[in-house]
Amino acid sequence: MSTRYQNYIAGKWVDSVSGETAENRNPANWDEVVGIFPRSGKEDVNAAVRSAKEAFDEWRLTPAPARGDIIRRAGDIMTARKEEISKNMTREMGKILDETRGDVQEGIDTAYYAGTEGRRLFGHTVPSELANKFNMSLRRPIGVAGIITPWNFPMAIPTWKIFPALVCGNTVVFKPASDTPLTATTFVEILLEAGVPPKAVNLVHGGGDSVGVPLVNHEEVKLISFTGSTAVGKAISRSAGDTLKRVSLELGGKNAQIVMDDADQDLALEGALWGAFGTTGQRCTATSRVILHSKIHDQFVDMLVSRAAKLRLGDGLNPETEVGPMVNQYQVETVQRYVGVGREEGATLALGGNQYKEGDCAKGWFHEPTIFTDVTPEMRIAKEEVFGPMLSVLRVDGFEEAVRVLNNTKYGLSSSIYTADVSRAFQAMRDIDAGITYINGPTIGAEAHMPFGGVKETGNGHREGGWEVYEFYTETKTIFVDYSGHLQRAQIDNY
Ligand code: UN1
Repeated sequence: MSTRYQNYIAGKWVDSVSGETAENRNPANWDEVVGIFPRSGKEDVNAAVRSAKEAFDEWRLTPAPARGDIIRRAGDIMTARKEEISKNMTREMGKILDETRGDVQEGIDTAYYAGTEGRRLFGHTVPSELANKFNMSLRRPIGVAGIITPWNFPMAIPTWKIFPALVCGNTVVFKPASDTPLTATTFVEILLEAGVPPKAVNLVHGGGDSVGVPLVNHEEVKLISFTGSTAVGKAISRSAGDTLKRVSLELGGKNAQIVMDDADQDLALEGALWGAFGTTGQRCTATSRVILHSKIHDQFVDMLVSRAAKLRLGDGLNPETEVGPMVNQYQVETVQRYVGVGREEGATLALGGNQYKEGDCAKGWFHEPTIFTDVTPEMRIAKEEVFGPMLSVLRVDGFEEAVRVLNNTKYGLSSSIYTADVSRAFQAMRDIDAGITYINGPTIGAEAHMPFGGVKETGNGHREGGWEVYEFYTETKTIFVDYSGHLQRAQIDNY
């Protein structure tokens, strides 16, 4: 018998109003049911929003340092449960145990950062232009935050959003990806155990259309933070316009690593392998293109193909495994579709290209690490996000061309250049159109205390992580205190 899990609404664990459920299965072995979760709808969302709204006053009036202490405790609990959460996460979405441990660690790092932010949340004091008058700004929470998260970082990404939302004094309705409801459930348990008031956090399981859409459309939801596809992000942005919600979007990527002829080639190779095939390519920061200087192109491709061919596929719980399964059938089919596109466009399939069902992998959603060479900048496989273990190799003759080719996509999340030339490195920092640039490091691996996000169709200008995300979850109030005892007219009496 598989365990049945519930929503958490208005301080109680409850089934969905309709009573409908969905199975969550292990992508490394589709026969294994990880758990049974509610399939919720609009009524569940409405109840969750009501609860979050009710809890708002008490929570916003709790001193911010005390809210921070609760988040810090959540970090302590997560630390104590790290191994168990990581193993369940691997069963739930497939990535290897080292990486699920990293995912939980990113959540812990975010907790400790957010915890101390409760003691900052700075406003400004500024001189007034008039005598005996005092000017300052302070930061206020906004209200009910709708949090919609993806399956590829089932702990880190919810913590990026929910910890800052709570520290700032907002209350939360959380709709996790339907592929990773177990990690989300554990996260909510941890928040409650740490001391978040029961109605201040609400968990509603279910799909995008049935749960995400009513959450985005709800008048009482004042903020939406979403990580996922650009298509869904645009739809959210459009409908949020009707209620003038504040929306933060982290969307697609087509990240590239440039390798110059002066780079340490072995280092660049390690970076490309990790960036492209780590997390089975299912990161929004994954390396989806390598752009090689023609002088090192052939040699680098040889090394890349021979190393990628040796990557060990398997269950992420097996310590020998280097590449786990993809999350579900749909993702495997997407990669398969792009393999077809690459072939039709005339690129050379240098490695892989197939779904993988050998031995222990027979019952899972595995896909061979796949490399296309002779890819040109206008091909779809050079421009569109794939979100899987597929890498496109492009050839360039110099630095300017490399940057031009790198920028030739509608996305702009992460980027990387391997070079020994300091001037080139600084030019790349300046000229690459992306939210993140690595020098001599792969495109993946952002740290929790630095701003995270992208330009162009990767987002709408907000950043998660670091200090910047706290701007998103608060609204500034400007205060003027006139202690002169008479009417003073700004811009008039002083000139
Ligand atoms: C994501 O893929 O959505 O920078 C997040 C990284 C991780 C986060 C990735 N720290 O690769």
